[in-house]
Amino acid sequence: MEKQNKSIYVTQPALPDLKEFIPYLEKIWGNKILTNNGPFHQQLEKELAGFLGVPYISLFVNGTLALVTALQVLRITGEVITTPYSFVATTHALWWNNIKPVFVDIEPEYGNIDPERIEEAITPQTTAILPVHVYGNPCKVERIQEIADTYGLKVIYDAAHAFGNNYKGQSILNWGDLSTLSFHATKPFNTMEGGAIICHDDKTKQRIDYLKNFGFAGETKVMAPGINSKMNEMQAALGLLQLKHHQANIEKRQQIANTYKHELKDIEGIKLLDEPEDLSNNNHAYFPIFVDETKFGKSRDDLYEHLKENNIFGQRYFYP
Ligand SMILES: Cc1ncc(COP(=O)(O)O)c(C=O)c1O
Repeated sequence: MEKQNKSIYVTQPALPDLKEFIPYLEKIWGNKILTNNGPFHQQLEKELAGFLGVPYISLFVNGTLALVTALQVLRITGEVITTPYSFVATTHALWWNNIKPVFVDIEPEYGNIDPERIEEAITPQTTAILPVHVYGNPCKVERIQEIADTYGLKVIYDAAHAFGNNYKGQSILNWGDLSTLSFHATKPFNTMEGGAIICHDDKTKQRIDYLKNFGFAGETKVMAPGINSKMNEMQAALGLLQLKHHQANIEKRQQIANTYKHELKDIEGIKLLDEPEDLSNNNHAYFPIFVDETKFGKSRDDLYEHLKENNIFGQRYFYP
């Protein structure tokens, strides 16, 4: 392999031209509203709800605090069934709420939680299921909902990878009681750091908005021990600008994904994921490959190190 002079990273954040951002900053400097549900924040909530096709969205400073808060919104306690195959933040959100994570194994096709193993993990302490749409591929949402309805459990989807992805022609974010998003720099839609909770009704949205603002319900009443996880105006302004370029960014990702698919498809020992039939608007946030050491002749970690020596910085998902 020819050594690359230019380093290639697993992802490069999409950023608009800096000049386009200046007028937004001038507005912030002009009105001196930096946070607390300012005009850019309100506008981004409105535009994102329309763009994603969801009824209510509440913005957060990051995806982890959106997850932590989502569990509090539904007053989840005891044990929660979740997947071990995710970024650490999924399980950490449970830990921060003093909830015991109960891990259920994943299905081999897409790496999402295997619904057929959920029932055997349910105990009298189970209150909810926290699945992840890994790499943006939809979980088996119908079956998960059926189990949740049978056992009286809530469902919160960690949809950090699924921004804009549709399932059977509708936003995947409309499944479950709540879904959470991440707008971290590594995500296809980023506000540098950022996140959101999607919910179905205005009463829940109001409770989310109280909890992310110290629990304040109005000027003097504090309805619960909330946290400060509000998105600020600079993040929201960047989000509005990013949204304008989002489609073009996704098309670029699609082209790159097509190149990878074409170039990697016949390599012995490298497995690619098929795109699920029911998925549309794929954001191509990730392009995972699975390495079969015996057939490929190198382990995943050897391949990772080899690429690194050649200035190509991959990522082991999920490691640790
Ligand atoms: C599956 C998953 N959940 C949660 C998070 C946490 O989001 P954030 O980095 O915005 O806090 C991430 C990634 O960053 C993620 O990949």
